[in-house]
Amino acid sequence: MQSKQVEKALNEQINEELYSAYAYLAMAAEADKLGLPGFVNWFKVQYAEELAHADRFFNFVLERDGTIELSAIGRPEIGEETALSLFEKALAHEQHITQLIFRLKDLARSESDHATDVFLEWFVKEQVEEEASTRAVIDQLKMVAGDPNGLFMIDRELAARKVEPAA
Ligand SMILES: [Fe+2]
Ligand SMILES: [Fe+2]
Repeated sequence: MQSKQVEKALNEQINEELYSAYAYLAMAAEADKLGLPGFVNWFKVQYAEELAHADRFFNFVLERDGTIELSAIGRPEIGEETALSLFEKALAHEQHITQLIFRLKDLARSESDHATDVFLEWFVKEQVEEEASTRAVIDQLKMVAGDPNGLFMIDRELAARKVEPAA
């Protein structure tokens, strides 16, 4: 049986994942303003992945006979950005999500909720990947230091990213 506290935290995480999707959608729009279609694609793929994350939490709550409580999704804080500042925001956000997943896992453990603890393993690994892939683009952007040719090459690379089928 799932504790009410764990159930509440899982519901909050659904909101966090939907907010993440929303934030990436805002980043895609900003990348479009910058004339970087590959970046738009990358953020749209990220958007789709975050929706899938929300869905995983949603399905898990229901699978454990819990109750879904949806709440309002906040407005993403994305203003005038550069390619680099977009990715720096993305990384900071992923680091924040990683902390939330860790806290959720701590809570599950403190409640002896092994099912939730095991369920969250996937997200622990996913966050390592999310941070690494974001950091990799930041490194590339720093390397080209705003050089249009370099930016064009990175944009072409990011254009190739596709939504991976759910594992
Ligand atoms: Fe996520
Ligand atoms: Fe993410």
